[in-house]
Amino acid sequence: MPAANHDDAYVRNLFDRMGPTYDAINLVSSFGFSEFWRWQCVRTANIRPGDRVCDMMAGSGECWRHIHAHGASVVSVDFSKVMAERQVRRGNRLRLPVDIRCENALECSIADGSIDRVVGAFGLKTLDTDATRRFALEIHRILRPGGRISLVEISHPEGWWLAGVYRWYVGHAIPLVGKVFLGDVECYRMLGVYTREFGSCDRVVALFADAGLEVSVRRHFFGCATSIVGSRPRSTDS
Ligand SMILES: C[S@@+](CC[C@H](N)C(=O)[O-])C[C@H]1O[C@@H](n2cnc3c(N)ncnc32)[C@H](O)[C@@H]1O
Repeated sequence: MPAANHDDAYVRNLFDRMGPTYDAINLVSSFGFSEFWRWQCVRTANIRPGDRVCDMMAGSGECWRHIHAHGASVVSVDFSKVMAERQVRRGNRLRLPVDIRCENALECSIADGSIDRVVGAFGLKTLDTDATRRFALEIHRILRPGGRISLVEISHPEGWWLAGVYRWYVGHAIPLVGKVFLGDVECYRMLGVYTREFGSCDRVVALFADAGLEVSVRRHFFGCATSIVGSRPRSTDS
């Protein structure tokens, strides 16, 4: 199995290549769980009507329908041009006014303290430790004090039997689906490499706490996904 490459340009290129098929493969290969976990992630953010919600590493805007259902506006951040083009199409199709920013989530152009909620589905795995630290600091910067965070990622499940199935699944089954749909087994194999290396949100919770965010980890379906949920404390000195 190859090593995970966390270089920005490499990751951006990977998602540019996967962009046209990502939605479909993600839905099929997760047996619909990915959509359920997105819905859960957005619901956990406790969004109120009129909130300004940042969807970090938004892909083609898979979370927007759920955010919009709460009467909030969306600011979307993703550095893949292909994903951004798909976001424009999704926004038009759903008639959603979305502020689309095709830029790096580690240094985005969103103003300090201007966001009520940060949500993000399945974007953590391609960040290495240093990038995760910068990402947490960036979330702290853009969130208003008291603002909430809810992020979810696929993770390594508990129990040897499920862990074995999971390893086979991300290492072989998902790349095969990718080959059938995209004719490109490498892209989806790399997704498996990132997922295995990521482990779970336990790994990143300390980095979020170091950035001054109050967060905890939640497990879903025997740990097949984990989420980081919390907030930027109201006190201005943290
Ligand atoms: C696995 S996809 C997740 C897409 C979507 N959020 C979903 O619910 O499926 C990860 C996305 O994160 C984006 N991404 C990864 N690293 C990023 C970074 N540093 N800045 C901005 N976008 C990034 C990729 O371009 C890709 O679209």
